Amino acid sequence: MIKVNLRSQERYGGVLNAPHRAFLRSIGFSDEDIGKPLVAVVAAWSEAGPCNIHTLQLAVHVKEGVRRGGGSPLTVPTIVVNDNIGMGTEGMRYSLVSRDVIADTIEAQVNAHAFDGFVGIGGCDKTTPGILMAMARLNIPAVYLYGGTAEPGFYGNLKLTIEDVHEAIGAYLAGKITEDELYEIEKRAHPTYGTCAGMFTANTMAAIAEALGMALPGSASPPATSARRVMYAVESGVALMNAMELGIKPRDVMTYEAFENAITVLMAMGGSTNAILHLLAIAYEAGVKLTLDDFDRISRRTPYIASLRPGGDYVMADLDAVGGVPLVMLKLLKAGLLNGKVLTITGKTLEENLRNYKFPNVPHDHIVRDVSNPIKPWGGIRILKGSLAPEGAVIKVAATELMRFEGRARPFNSEEEAFQAIRRGEIKPGDVVVIRYEGPKGGPGMPEMLRVTAAIVGAGLGKDVALVTDGRFSGATRGLMVGHVAPEAAVGGPIAVVEDGDRVLIDVENGRLDLLVPEEEIKRRLKNWQPPPPRYTRGLLAKYASLVTSASMGAVTLPRL
Ligand code: FES
Repeated sequence: MIKVNLRSQERYGGVLNAPHRAFLRSIGFSDEDIGKPLVAVVAAWSEAGPCNIHTLQLAVHVKEGVRRGGGSPLTVPTIVVNDNIGMGTEGMRYSLVSRDVIADTIEAQVNAHAFDGFVGIGGCDKTTPGILMAMARLNIPAVYLYGGTAEPGFYGNLKLTIEDVHEAIGAYLAGKITEDELYEIEKRAHPTYGTCAGMFTANTMAAIAEALGMALPGSASPPATSARRVMYAVESGVALMNAMELGIKPRDVMTYEAFENAITVLMAMGGSTNAILHLLAIAYEAGVKLTLDDFDRISRRTPYIASLRPGGDYVMADLDAVGGVPLVMLKLLKAGLLNGKVLTITGKTLEENLRNYKFPNVPHDHIVRDVSNPIKPWGGIRILKGSLAPEGAVIKVAATELMRFEGRARPFNSEEEAFQAIRRGEIKPGDVVVIRYEGPKGGPGMPEMLRVTAAIVGAGLGKDVALVTDGRFSGATRGLMVGHVAPEAAVGGPIAVVEDGDRVLIDVENGRLDLLVPEEEIKRRLKNWQPPPPRYTRGLLAKYASLVTSASMGAVTLPRL
């Protein structure tokens, strides 16, 4: 029996807690079960998409591991908002919002039922950060388990991901492919359950959970359909009980140094820009002071070494075959770019985990290069600041060759307006599409602009048109795209007063995002600016808009005390 102070005993032990025990008995618990640590297996589960449809099955195996380790497990759910299905519609406004709802629902269930620890099973984009936020917030023993990536699809010799369907729409609208070809791509793009196949947000966050030390080594990359996922599910349950016995809590693992490691892995893998928001939010919950400047500093010193889509050629399942995230981490560790001394959820340091890891003996240079021979000498994401983004903005340089762009501003007050303008062929080479009022408060919920960016790329304008927005990008986005512009338009950031024809400068090397309009003119425009009425006055989106903070703070929701 694990010898730990069990908070569950305050709820279920002793004579006066008989009513609570009566309910546990009615779900099949024996006296022995009631005396053991009570463990929640939190499954972010939903049938409304392929990403998390199998997590209840994984929970069964996690429970087996918890029982092996001496605990009494119960499965509880949390929600999933599917990013791909919600995209480009009202649904997308709920995506980032769902991250905080997930953290809140876990807090509610785990605390209300006095669980002693939990394993969180995630998949789709917001589930992993939501679960990690809850782990950091509650700070009771916890282990993260990823549901796993989908396998890629095939169309002729082309390896497909969901990104190809979005870009096929742009190609179809531009008359480059037929409706039949679009239909064939649609049918083949996502052939199994599991998350989007490339190094988009879901796979990025899974890699980050591993790099932070909150998930078992190697557990991020096996496909959802792999038998190794079952193995990791059982082992995650065992690992949770081990962490409980050792007294390891999430904040012992999620230290500043662990966040530095996670950012390094993010940059080396060319991961999703969304990870910046999520890491800032998880760090906030963990009480770790992380800022946008940390991302820029680490990006400038970290080579981009993993050729993963959308910036490279391969998908998560390919990475899995050559050694998964541990292979990337080993290369970074050997180059002195990771801190190997940090504690992980296994009870061992990161260095020890990598030393014990069994790497497959297969060629891997085509997917993961050595640090001495990188794809690019710097990281996949940069932070820009300037007169258009005084608090900061984010650009994914892994997915573009362009490092400097000056163009004519074409401002739109919503993603939909911009999408229709591209559809009508109104966007021309040399334009900078500015999409505003889509930030955390204005959207609300910072919707992703994949529909617009895919339409730009699909129309063959990826090298000639830039996009600047206070909204977000999908991890699948390619091209010269600047997001997370802060302060956002809804709170009177300079992006609110960009006018048609203004010149905009994006200068990655110097970290600048400037509105090339005299400072006095920007001030004059801002003085005359009036905030538009909120898009929502009732329900979740209205509540969220009233509590959410800037993208430069991870768009966390803070109570108004
Ligand atoms: Fe769920 Fe891409 S939509 S991972």
